Amino acid sequence: MFRTHTCGELSAEYAGERVTLAGWLHHTRHHGGVLFADLRDRYGRIQITFKPESKGLFEAAEKLGHEDVIMVEGTVTIRPPEARNKELASGDIEVIAEKLTVLSKAKTPPFVIEDEVNASEETRLRYRYLDLRRPEMRESMLLRAKAGGISRKYFDELGFVDIETSTLVRSTPEGARDFLVPSRKHKGKFFALPQSPQIYKQLLMIAGFDRYYQFARCYRDEDLRADRQLEFTQIDVEMSFAHEEDILAMAEGLIARLLSELKGVNLKLPMKRMGYDEAMLRYGSDKPDLRFGMEIKDLTAIAAKSSFKVFSGAVGEGGAVRAIAVPGGAELSRKNIDELTDKARQLGAKGLAQCKYLDGEFSGGIAKFLNEKEKNEYARILEPEDGSIILFVADSADICAKVLGFLRLQMGNHFGLIDKNRWEALFIVNFPMFELDEETGRQVARHHLFTQPAPEDVRLLETDPMSVRARAYDLVLNGQEIAGGSIRTHDPELLRRIMKAIKLSEEEANNKFGFLLEALQYGAPPHGGIAFGWDRIVMLLAGRESIRDVIAFPKTTAAQSLMDGAPNEVDQTQLEELGIAIIEKDDEL
Ligand code: AMO
Ligand code: AMP
Repeated sequence: MFRTHTCGELSAEYAGERVTLAGWLHHTRHHGGVLFADLRDRYGRIQITFKPESKGLFEAAEKLGHEDVIMVEGTVTIRPPEARNKELASGDIEVIAEKLTVLSKAKTPPFVIEDEVNASEETRLRYRYLDLRRPEMRESMLLRAKAGGISRKYFDELGFVDIETSTLVRSTPEGARDFLVPSRKHKGKFFALPQSPQIYKQLLMIAGFDRYYQFARCYRDEDLRADRQLEFTQIDVEMSFAHEEDILAMAEGLIARLLSELKGVNLKLPMKRMGYDEAMLRYGSDKPDLRFGMEIKDLTAIAAKSSFKVFSGAVGEGGAVRAIAVPGGAELSRKNIDELTDKARQLGAKGLAQCKYLDGEFSGGIAKFLNEKEKNEYARILEPEDGSIILFVADSADICAKVLGFLRLQMGNHFGLIDKNRWEALFIVNFPMFELDEETGRQVARHHLFTQPAPEDVRLLETDPMSVRARAYDLVLNGQEIAGGSIRTHDPELLRRIMKAIKLSEEEANNKFGFLLEALQYGAPPHGGIAFGWDRIVMLLAGRESIRDVIAFPKTTAAQSLMDGAPNEVDQTQLEELGIAIIEKDDEL
């Protein structure tokens, strides 16, 4: 037997028991002629004591190195009162060693297995299996598994059926670039890895399964960020005969259950529902962080008559003037303000106007250009605290929202205004159906093509598509988009009109998802669903800043796996079997 107990389960109650433990040698130290070793496993840490009396054993223990895997037999003993360690769950006891077996020697690890690690993230990812031994990483992974269990139970209780869908699929559009997998049997043809199981879950509704869920791997070839990976996990859900409110109630119930069981937090349900337009106006974001105020205020009506030409000019051209009052911001240096201005310019603003609010007066910056009346009006609307800085943007409504939404978050973080113990969730609803693609300028579906337009807006599909609203919703927790979904178009005729609106030809449509169009003609129930960004949810539950910290083997932001070296070159024979030739890239490419 390798072990009778784990390192985490022993306590004073076990005093006098003979036990066998196995684990990693965390560290050793000499003290008063005795050798203390900390043994660690998944469950915890315990002190093993080697006494000089048993000479052979003591000498063997002295040869141990960090991270050696050992097996120890010994007796659980209560420590003398002065030697107790409150920090350790097993701090009242030690195991007096009687037998030691080395199961596996370890090379010196490239970093210490502690939470406070000074290794770079590259080194941690290169040796991820060592990184995962660190307590905070282990806890994150255990939390992920536990949260998964709670979620499965939730869906099972509600009668959802867990169905797996294929990950070698037809290339279908969902916004991002597809990962392609060459077919050996059908040279020149490719499978795609699914960006989500979207079409397949809709087909499951047509198949009559009524309520489906799946922990689904999704693959998107996009630029990586702290909250984005090439492959990530969704809890993907679809329901038949359901309206928005049925789906939102299911979704908020899951988040409330996770927060209550894992964090002891009671979310007030139902969650707030906020229209997209209101979110953009008040927070400059479709994923507003409601853990702090500093709302964006619209000054357009007054600024139209401003004595400051930048303001009145922008309104004259159909734009807006909006501002935030940043408490404590009066202390920002010239350099800070220049950096903010540069950032505002990068985001598309023509500039960033600012002034301070001190002793009930606007001062510095653009204050000298503003007349008394407008200053009073701005103060009434902005309600600045004494010692604030006011940041103004005069531009199109979109640019005002983008720039001030960014500055609100930046300043909220800078001045520590975000209460990290608060949990603020809301749904964003009434999204626009279409948006203009930034690269191509083409009108595309904002959520995805299968989203149903609001019934009252269907008549505008041909005449004024950009003002059509969608029956789509996002769930936002602490400023992170953690889920998104919609009611689907189950009427094939309406779907064809939507495709026309984005100038997708019949031929392209049939080529891409003719199989769905066909299936919709065989009796499709009204249906809708949502997908939860599982990595992001676990990241928030674990209190981490990046989804990489809650994924066992993530990719770097340069889209590589440092541990196994993927992506890598493959054998010529593999390529030949697939009928693939690599075109050497020019140096400049
Ligand atoms: P959507 O594309 O909004 O919807 O994705 C749903 C949720 O998945 C998370 N997410 C990501 N997480 C990590 N890395 C990524 N690259 C990434 N991309 C998205 C987000 C997001 O809210 N089929 C639809 C859902 C539906 O309509 O039912 C879909 O995939 O948290
Ligand atoms: P100017 O009159 O152009 O020197 O601008 C005066 C101040 O207004 C500078 O701080 C500019 O950065 C700022 N500014 C210029 N254009 C805008 C704008 N569209 N929105 C907000 N501030 C602006």
